[in-house]
Amino acid sequence: MTPTLHVFSAAAWADAVAAALIDRLLAQPRLRLCLPTGETPAPLYAALASADAGVWSQATVVLLDDYVGLSADDPAAGGPRLRREIVDHVRPAAFIEIDQSGDLDAAVRRHDEAARDLDLAIVGLGLNGHIGFNEPGSTAASPTRVVDLHRRSREAAAGYGAEEAPERGITIGLARLLEARELWLLVTGARKAEILRAALEGPETPDVPASFLRRHPNLRVMADDAAASLLTT
Ligand code: F6R
Repeated sequence: MTPTLHVFSAAAWADAVAAALIDRLLAQPRLRLCLPTGETPAPLYAALASADAGVWSQATVVLLDDYVGLSADDPAAGGPRLRREIVDHVRPAAFIEIDQSGDLDAAVRRHDEAARDLDLAIVGLGLNGHIGFNEPGSTAASPTRVVDLHRRSREAAAGYGAEEAPERGITIGLARLLEARELWLLVTGARKAEILRAALEGPETPDVPASFLRRHPNLRVMADDAAASLLTT
């Protein structure tokens, strides 16, 4: 399938994506969506946090992925970070994070259930081509699971301020993400240009798990100029 590519200037990107998401919520107030954390969506969340929160009152937000074993006050912990950056501001009807309080296998099963029937999956793109923590080696059939984090994901966690570099993560699987009715891939910055080109124009391969997103019939790529600069189409 051919994704729909939306390219904005760096200055316009966050407001443009926020406006698209607000439109989506207005059209479908009971939207079930999953959201990532990280540097890419941070300005989008800031834009949404300062907009009218009323549109979120019936929506359900599901966390895309999280590190295993970080304390709730670790700056990199995904659930608390998503609360700080957006959930606490827009107050959706429900926020489903990854409850790691008991057995991890049970946490995976619960989260996989929560990730069924998503209307919209919003994901970022790792420098290594990962989607969520579907690290290189993942396929379109990869389930929701505990994963050993790739070196670059551990480095990214350190960049997010993790007190101890986490070794493992829990992620919604690519298989489940591909079942969402709609998928938005958020990509910004020149450092993502090469991997975005590989994901959209290179071969479909487990070396670049994002390349499997092209199988989705309703994929929108929301990029800024710099990230899109190496695309040929
Ligand atoms: C985070 C996540 C990751 C990031 C990706 C890009 O929840 O799922 O896949 O989306 O690593 O991270 P940033 O946006 O920090 O470049």
